Amino acid sequence: MSNTIEISASILSADFGHLVRDVKRCEEAGIDRFHIDCMDGHFVPNLTIGPIMVETMRKNTKLPIETHLMIENPGYYIEHYAKAGADIIQIQVECYGPRKSNCRQWNQWPKEVENIDLPALRADLKKIKIFGKKAFIVINPGTPLCEEILNDCDGVLIMSVNPGFAGQKFMPEVLSKVDRLQKIFDGDIAIDGGINAQTAPAAIDAGAHVLITASYLFGSPHLAQAARLLKSI
Ligand code: DX5
Ligand code: ZN
Repeated sequence: MSNTIEISASILSADFGHLVRDVKRCEEAGIDRFHIDCMDGHFVPNLTIGPIMVETMRKNTKLPIETHLMIENPGYYIEHYAKAGADIIQIQVECYGPRKSNCRQWNQWPKEVENIDLPALRADLKKIKIFGKKAFIVINPGTPLCEEILNDCDGVLIMSVNPGFAGQKFMPEVLSKVDRLQKIFDGDIAIDGGINAQTAPAAIDAGAHVLITASYLFGSPHLAQAARLLKSI
C-alpha cells in the first residue's frame, strides 16, 4: 500500500461545457487521477455518464481514469468501460444481492442488500482484470465491509455519502470501515463523498490514501490551491 496521498478529481462537478479546459486545470494543479461517476437512474436516482464520455476523457488526458459504476448489472458494462479507456473499474457490491425490505422497489434509495453473491462479484472482478484493468469494489455507507472478497480486489472504495449526487455531507461513521481496512488490506483504499479540507484529515488518519473530490475541488475559486491544500494534509 502506498503512503502518499493521491487526489482523484471527480468530474461530476466539472463544467461539461469546458470539460477539456477543466481536465487541463486539474493536470496543472497536480491532480493524480480522474474519477468518473457513471449512474444509471436505477442503482441511484441520477443519470450521468456512459462510455462515450470516458472515451472523450481518454483522448484528453494521460492520467489514470477510474470509472465508478453506479449501475445495475455492472458485469455487462465492464467491457464497454474497459474499451473506452478506463484504467480502474469500480463496482458496487450492492449490485450482487437481493434488496432489503425497506428498499424493495427499484426506485427506493439508497439500495441495501440482504447478502452479497460472492461468486458473481468475484467473477466480475476477474473480468475487469482480464481486460487488464484494476478491479475495485465500492461499499455504500449502509453496507458492511465485505472482507471475504478483499483478496480479489486491487482496491476498495468506501463511500462516505450515499451515492447519487455531488455536494453531500461527509458521513464520519464510515471511517471505522477505513480503519479496519488499513489493518487487513494491502491494496488501494479510496474514499468518496463530502471530502474537503475539513473532512480529509480524519479520512487520512483512518487509512484512506486516495481522496476523491468533486464539489470541493471544482467549487473552489482556486482549484490549484484547493488541490495543494488537500495534498498537504
Ligand atoms: C457520489 C459520487 C461522488 C461525487 C463526490 O455519488 O460517487 O464521486 O462525485 O462529490 P463530492 O466530492 O461533492 O461529495
Ligand atoms: Zn464516485
